Amino acid sequence: MTIAVYPGSFDPVTFGHLNLVERGLRIFDQLIVAVAINIKKPPLFTPEERMAMIREAVGDNPRIEIVTFTGLLVDYAQKRNASVILRGLRAVSDFEFEFQMTHMNRRLQTGLEIVFMMTDEEYFFVSSQLVREVASFGGDVGGLVPENVRQNLRKRFAE
Ligand code: PNS
Repeated sequence: MTIAVYPGSFDPVTFGHLNLVERGLRIFDQLIVAVAINIKKPPLFTPEERMAMIREAVGDNPRIEIVTFTGLLVDYAQKRNASVILRGLRAVSDFEFEFQMTHMNRRLQTGLEIVFMMTDEEYFFVSSQLVREVASFGGDVGGLVPENVRQNLRKRFAE
């Protein structure tokens, strides 16, 4: 059984992320969507809120687990007996950061395979950061994020 960890900030989850979850499930038996708590950028949503939005968007699926994690990703993956880390690649601009992370992670933990999947072309320009920015100015992010996320963004920026 192949267990893959799909880590990220997911602040908030977008259709780009969900596209990767769906496609990841075609390859891996079990997918652990791991919401990072220790991120450098101050998050818009708490880890619990981010997890709840993902859960609502993916529904109940015994092959998907949604968790939060702190500390090193490779340590978490090892603890969960995962052999794969799944990451999405959009444009070339993602490459530099992913390249550095991959090599650092490999240095820390040699037994892990880091697998990249290209986000479908409909979503290759979508990022959580852009979604937050557009939503903060009252722009419509429908079609880029699930409806529950859209509502939560609206509420958060109305506060
Ligand atoms: O969605 P993001 O912000 O691109 O995800 C980045 C994430 C959470 C995958 C990365 O920052 C991470 O792995 N953080 C956990 C701490 C860690 O292991 N850092 C070393 C990475 S080489």
